[in-house]
Amino acid sequence: MTHAISCQTLDVDLAGRRILCGLSFHIPEGSIVAVLGPNGAGKSTFFRTLLGLTPVTRGALSLFGQPVRRGRADIGYLPQTRSMIGPRLTGRAHIMATLEGNRWGLASKKRSTEELEAVLQELNATDLADRPFGTLSGGERQRLMLAQAMLGHPRLLLLDEPLASLDPGRMREVAELTGNLVRARGITALISAHDINPLIGIVDRVLYLAGGHARIGTPDEILTAPVLSRLYGTPVDVFHAPSGQIFVAPGREA
Ligand SMILES: Nc1ncnc2c1ncn2[C@@H]1O[C@H](COP(=O)(O)OP(=O)(O)OP(=O)(O)O)[C@@H](O)[C@H]1O
Ligand SMILES: [Mg+2]
Repeated sequence: MTHAISCQTLDVDLAGRRILCGLSFHIPEGSIVAVLGPNGAGKSTFFRTLLGLTPVTRGALSLFGQPVRRGRADIGYLPQTRSMIGPRLTGRAHIMATLEGNRWGLASKKRSTEELEAVLQELNATDLADRPFGTLSGGERQRLMLAQAMLGHPRLLLLDEPLASLDPGRMREVAELTGNLVRARGITALISAHDINPLIGIVDRVLYLAGGHARIGTPDEILTAPVLSRLYGTPVDVFHAPSGQIFVAPGREA
């Protein structure tokens, strides 16, 4: 079976500092993975390394059996920092302008308007795309940015904090829309987040980063006090609420 992502003792250094250390794991094609971890854990760095924007320092990193390289047309990317090109442009024009300006690894394929319209429809965002981008709420913008990342029929989708700054209801809505869309198309998706709860129903794996190291497995395997305490190198508690919600908190030293 082809792995979507394969890391072999991967190290990534930035400015002489080891950010990711000895990562070794495979992600099967079609997986939907929550990428979790504290601020500065290296989630965005991992995404940028997959895009070929940050170099591999040591070890190997391959996508669909090939070493990572810049400018792959089959990766859709929603960066954590999103720039606004022109607040008065309609959502539709904004998407096209952002694509042309940045080519976030999506390369230069000509994207048909039909493709954009089809994705907008699936995301329930056709009306939003007619409105000036600057007048949309954070959640509405997020939906349009998601549509943008979906263009070009990506095989891999890297969504860096797509749920940031959304209220809990919107988080679930965007998470569900994303889950349905990627599952229906068999896309492999990595979704970084600070809270697993809105994603719990849509992901089949969790990639947890902390202290430069990583653990990957099902949410049940990874979100446990012993696994996370080892990864953080300090006691961590994991609470399961009756609602099914999961909370990770610092534990008490023994
Ligand atoms: N270009 C850079 N040069 C030097 N250090 C960097 C650079 N980019 C990121 N870093 C550092 O690498 C570490 C990992 O950053 P990264 O943005 O990957 O974390 P993150 O897990 O995405 O965090 P957050 O949850 O805050 O988004 C941080 O300590 C950050 O300061
Ligand atoms: Mg980040």
